[in-house]
Amino acid sequence: MEEKALLTINGKNYELPIITGSEGEQAIDISTLRKLTGLITFDPGYANTGSCISTITFMDGEKGVLRYRGIPIEQLADKSTFVETSYLLINGKLPSQKELNGFSVMLNDTSLVHEDMRHFFSNFPRSSHPMGILSSMVNALRAFYPEIPERSEQEELNLTVTRLLSKIRTMAAMSYRISRGHSVVYPRHDYSYAANFLNMMFETPVRPYEIDPDLVKAMNVFWILHADHEQNCSTAAVRLVGSARVNLYAAISAGICALWGPLHGGANQAVIEMLDEIRQNGSNVGTYVARARDKNDPFRLMGFGHRVYKTHDPRAIIMKKWCYKVIEKLNISDPLLDIAMELEEVALKDPYFIDHNLYPNIDFYSGILLRSISIPINMFTVLFAIGRLPGWIAQWKESMEDPEWKIQRPRQVYIGLNERDYIPMSERKDK
Ligand code: CMC
Repeated sequence: MEEKALLTINGKNYELPIITGSEGEQAIDISTLRKLTGLITFDPGYANTGSCISTITFMDGEKGVLRYRGIPIEQLADKSTFVETSYLLINGKLPSQKELNGFSVMLNDTSLVHEDMRHFFSNFPRSSHPMGILSSMVNALRAFYPEIPERSEQEELNLTVTRLLSKIRTMAAMSYRISRGHSVVYPRHDYSYAANFLNMMFETPVRPYEIDPDLVKAMNVFWILHADHEQNCSTAAVRLVGSARVNLYAAISAGICALWGPLHGGANQAVIEMLDEIRQNGSNVGTYVARARDKNDPFRLMGFGHRVYKTHDPRAIIMKKWCYKVIEKLNISDPLLDIAMELEEVALKDPYFIDHNLYPNIDFYSGILLRSISIPINMFTVLFAIGRLPGWIAQWKESMEDPEWKIQRPRQVYIGLNERDYIPMSERKDK
């Protein structure tokens, strides 16, 4: 029997359908609510609102589960590569060897960036944040790679998708090199996606970069763990902006801007800045935990808490393991890792953090991993953006293919002034 929710407003009953997802989660379908009742719902931050039906990513925040297209994140981090996981997210299935080879060839073929775009990079002030540069450059790609009417829609889409995935990595490395005053290193056809990125970042004419397979694997794991996270702030931005039917580059550019924020992707940078501040102030971890629970102090422990996870973030568990692995492999000791471990221990025993279900999230560890690979701090969120790109593309594609899709246009409850007359300037008084 079809389940229904019964809503009573001023003594009048309304039946609303209940929809059930493939993992059993249920939602009340209120799409006809305003038409039936004249009322809208009010849900600031959308914490109780399902904005779409999706087949891409499943999260269970209570149990700490994350799966892409049904496959647990643990298995993908262990066995897959970022390129294969991107294919999985975007196309809905794991590729055959032939499909994967074809995808890799396309990524290689589209990895160069139009030479004229290099002038843009050089003209941004040196102090610019790379996330601002990246969002501008991704948007600018449309101008350099316009649609060609001779191509079929499918060909155009495949090309745009591979261009984005491939060029974002080249542009990220370019922005770093140019900001340092270093020459640009071009991608190599004989290197994998992650190896190429590391090489473009760190190769110099006087010191060739030696590819370390463990670091390549660590980069792959980092990007796989970030590849999608259902309707988070930046993905919702991509879907919302995309719903106006802008081109994919513009929608992704909007996603990058949303990701920049310290409450979202920018948290990986904010965590390292916080850990460094703790170190500089004598490593007194307890003081910072006390500040985080003080209602009169706006300070929050960066890298703790999540809108959906009310237990351990499954990505954080894997990321923590890789932090240790890389630090051990490179034989480095990072005082920030020690502070992070102490902070985690103190916070996890603290009644405030227990009561609020605040656990370390992926960003708590990801900055430490990137730091150990010598990625500069202002590039951390850029690396998150590279990782999230296949998710944004898959979500945008799903929304474009949805026959029920409408432009996203929320409503509001107006609490401003009621109608009043315009006052001529001569009659207005200073306070
Ligand atoms: N430190 C101290 N208190 C916190 C924290 C924190 N990091 N996070 C949440 N709280 C408290 C908050 O003060 C509130 O307390 P109360 O109910 O007593 O007023 C309660 O927990 C709920 O917080 P909220 O802001 O309503 O929760 P939210 O779901 O809107 O926010 C969050 C989620 C991730 C924005 C938030 O936990 C936060 O600001 N964390 C720090 C930033 C961070 O690490 N962000 C990365 C998220 S993971 C990467 C990604 O997917 O983007």
